[in-house]
Formats: sequence, structure tokens, C-alpha cells
Amino acid sequence: MAAGAYIYLLLTGLAFWSPWLFWVAVLLGGAPVSRMLHPWAGLIFFSAVWQMYVMWAPQMKQTDVDKAWWKAVRYYSTNQDDKMPPAGRYNAGQKFLFWGFFWGAVALLASGVVLWFPERIPWNLRFLRYISVIVHPAAALFTIGLFLIHIYMGVFAERGAFSSVIRGDVSLAFAKRYHPGWYDEIVRESSTPRK
Ligand code: HEM
Repeated sequence: MAAGAYIYLLLTGLAFWSPWLFWVAVLLGGAPVSRMLHPWAGLIFFSAVWQMYVMWAPQMKQTDVDKAWWKAVRYYSTNQDDKMPPAGRYNAGQKFLFWGFFWGAVALLASGVVLWFPERIPWNLRFLRYISVIVHPAAALFTIGLFLIHIYMGVFAERGAFSSVIRGDVSLAFAKRYHPGWYDEIVRESSTPRK
């Protein structure tokens, strides 16, 4: 739901943003339809992001391993995984993506609501309109950057990542290769006899 609503928002938003992309709105049912549905899709998108926040925020706190991960990020980007500190269930990059999307969605919602009802904003609060006109497309471009990295990592960079999206789990080999800290935790737990 989050991905479907986001892609619709991205396409219609870019069509509003640049005359070069206006044809996208025409393909999606015309400009008035896109303009009417964009904010509603925004509410659906935000509620999906909120559900993810409730579900995952506790697991996305920064740890000392994450700080060490950022210091070593040049090895990550040059595929020298053996020089990386052992990542847990989520590595620091995944946590950055999560928080980037969360705060991006908050900024998009807040600025989007102002752009939705500009005539309701009192004159003495008009700075909200000026801020929103800048913040909304800036936050959209920021999340689009994250989204492109997310697709690249999920589909091309890590073998087995995309099928885990479909299946909802990962193989032990995948956990060991990309999240060795988490793998050790699972193995330790499963080898401890239950009381
Ligand atoms: C989260 C809730 C959201 C709401 C309530 C919302 C609402 C709006 C509204 C009312 C407009 C103004 C359209 C006009 O010019 O009349 C707009 C424009 C736009 N939206 Fe959203 N939107 C949301 C999320 C998103 C997302 C997720 C993206 C893309 C990733 C996005 C991208 C854009 C862009 C690029 C524009 C054009 C801005 C400009 O021309 O300066 N929006 N949005």
C-alpha cells in the first residue's frame, strides 16, 4: 500500500512540478483528476508510513555498531564487506532509509496539507504557504533519492533481497552474508536450550 500510493504521488507530483512531465498527469486520467487524487493518496501513503513507524521504530534506534558502520561506509560502497562491522537485523544504511522516509513523509504531509487548502491559511500565517512551496518539492526530491537507492539495493545489489520481499523471510545464508550480527544472535538463541 505504501509503495503503490508513493509511486502514484511521485508520478502525479512530478507532473505538477515540471511542465516537461505534465504528460504523466494526462496519462493518469488528466490534470484535474490527478490534482484531486494526489492529496488523498498522500493521506493513504502517510497512514502506511505511520503503521511502519509503529511496527519498526523500536528496532531502528542507532547503536554503537551503527556508528562504526558509518565510519567504515567506504568499504561497504566498494564491496569489501569483510572490513565492515557485523550489521544487526537492520544495518545503519537501512535505518537511515527508514528515518529519512519517516521524516520526509512528515514534511510532505505538513506542507501538502497547506498546499491543499491555501485559502484557509490566515494572512498573518502566510509564511506557511511560502515555506510549504519550498519544503514540499524538496522533501519529495529527497525521498525520491532514497527511493531510487532502495530499489537499487533491493533489486540489483543484494542477491536474494527481492525474493525476500515476496516471501517475507530471508535464507540463513543471506542473513550470514549481509547481517552477520543478527545471524549470530539467531544461532545463539536457537542453540540455547529452552527452559
Ligand atoms: C503526504 C501527503 C501529501 C499531500 C497531502 C500532498 C499534497 C499536495 C498538494 C495539495 C500539492 C499542490 C498541487 C498544486 O500545485 O495545486 C502537491 C504538489 C506536489 N506534490 Fe504532494 N502531497 C503529498 C505527498 C507527496 C509525495 C509523497 C510526493 C512525491 C514523492 C509529492 C510530490 C509533490 C510534488 C513534486 C508537487 C509539486 C510541487 C510544486 O509544484 O512545487 N507529494 N502535493
